[in-house]
This record gives sequence, structure tokens and C-alpha cells, in this order.
Amino acid sequence: HSLRPKVLVTREIPQPALDRIKEFARLDLWPAFPPPEKGELQRMLADADALLCMITDCIDDDVIEAGKKLRVIANYGVGFDNIDIAAATRRRIPVTNTPDVLTEATADLAFTLLLATARNLIAADRFTRDGFWIAWHPQLLLGRDVFGSTLGIVGLGRIGEAVARRARGFNMRVLYTARRPNPKAEAELGIEYCTLEELLRQSDFVSLHTPLTLETRHLIGAKELDMMKPTAILINTARGGVVDQEALTEALQQGVIAGAGLDVFTEEPVSPEEALLELPNVVVSPHIGSATVETRTRMGLMAAENIQAALEGRRPPNLVNS
Ligand code: DGY
Repeated sequence: HSLRPKVLVTREIPQPALDRIKEFARLDLWPAFPPPEKGELQRMLADADALLCMITDCIDDDVIEAGKKLRVIANYGVGFDNIDIAAATRRRIPVTNTPDVLTEATADLAFTLLLATARNLIAADRFTRDGFWIAWHPQLLLGRDVFGSTLGIVGLGRIGEAVARRARGFNMRVLYTARRPNPKAEAELGIEYCTLEELLRQSDFVSLHTPLTLETRHLIGAKELDMMKPTAILINTARGGVVDQEALTEALQQGVIAGAGLDVFTEEPVSPEEALLELPNVVVSPHIGSATVETRTRMGLMAAENIQAALEGRRPPNLVNS
């Protein structure tokens, strides 16, 4: 029994995934809130053969160094900016992620935030509950048309495409910007490639779908926000770091843009005291893009499969550092 490899799982993921791991390994599950701190992670990694980690874990050079026996790092998520990929690669440790399975759930949340922000849903909910609904009024809680408006998608990967597909049902004109044009997606979805500047100038809604890299850090700053329409709404379900959060707060305070729907923040959890959260034209959620029962289960099973492959000396299906 003790010869079975040990898999360290940093948070309690759905049970079917934990059960799958137990079929081929010993499970070492970090049980509690808050997530393990760096020192704790290093200590627990000392005798682990595999690590199943997530956005709450900063897997830097020191942490990887502590995993003397480590043979795979499986991230529970599609983004892997929490992991020092170069440091893992130097030690020949495969790193994997969970693409595809969370695409639709994340696109759903992007659209949820878009609609909720455009139609003041959260304010409307509070208004109704708090007993302010005295009579129907022609000017009450006026939002902005979504149907027939222009959507700008920044980053046309899997999730960006899934958002474009939803936009078709809302008869939206869809612009996108990406590292390179995608003629196949253009033909399939009827979307138009343009520069970031053109996209920002023309869009009623701008939705971000890039990974966080050196290239995309603060991609949307004061200058870019200035290019947007004063009636425009920014949606971010990607990574907080893609936006200069201070510049966004200022832009929202000064009416440079009309609103924002945000699932991700520069620092997570975002402090409730943040000026951003005091603004009425902002709808926020706590990084729940992939948070559905089905999706989170699929992510866990996928991470488990990646771990099993690596431990058996096979190439993991979702390798990110070839
Ligand atoms: C993802 O899958 O990238 C989510 O943001 C969680 O890390």
C-alpha cells in the first residue's frame, strides 16, 4: 500500500474526482479554510509524487523545489498563471491544466455579468427587496439594450468563441481582437477582426478572454478605457491582472465608461473596502466562472487523468509545458 504514489490536493474538489485519484494513489487532502500557505505547501510537498493545485496556490520556484519527488503538477483550472512554468520545465516536471470542460460555463458567466450589468439586475433585486417599489415607473432602473448592440471580444480562444456564439442569439454585432485573425471563426460565427483600439471605440460591451501573461498584463489601462464609449460596459471573467484596476475604478467614478461586470480582481479575494466595490454601476462575483456542479466535477476528473498519465509514465493529455 505504501508503495502507491502520493497525490497532494490543495482544496476539497468534488468527490468523484477524489474517488478517481484514490483508484491509483494515496490522497493527501488539505482539509480546511484558508488554503495552505507557502510554508505549509512546501512541507506537504516533501513526499508528494503529484500535486493537484489551483488559483489559490502560488506554485513558484521555491515551492516546486520543495517537491523533491514531484512528477506532475496538475492545475485545477485552464489558466496557469499561478505556476512558474519555466521553473517546472527546468526540473522536467510536466504541468497540466483543464481546458475545454469549463469553456461553456465560463462563457455563461460572462453573459450573466453582461446582462446583469446592462440591466441593473443586482440593484433591481435590492430595490425590490428593500421595499422601494412604490409603483411601476417609466424611468425606473433603466439599463441599456443588449439585443442588437455591439460586443467586442478581446482574445478569441475557446471561451471567447463560446461568448461570440451566445452573442449571435442576441443579434449582436461581434468584433474581436486576437494575436492573429481567425478566418474560420469569422466564417462560422459572422464576427469581425479589428485592432484593440477599433474594438474599444466601437463596442457597447467589451469582454476579456485572454490568459494573464506579460503581454496581457494591464492590457486595459487608462488609455484604453478612454477609448471606450461613455455608455460602454466592461466584462472581465479572465484574470484581474489584465485590467489596471485602479484606472478602471477611476474611469467608473468619472463616467469614462458606464459600468463593469467583474468575476476576477487584481488581488483575490478583493477587499469589500475597495473603492471599486462601492460603485453602483459595478456587478461583482467571487471568481466563479467555472463554478457549476457539472463543470467542477469534469475539471477534477480531467486533473486526475492528467496525474494518472504522468505517474504511469505516459504523456498527460493536457500538458502545457511540452
Ligand atoms: C481557470 O480555470 O483558469 C479558473 O480561473 C480557475 O483557475
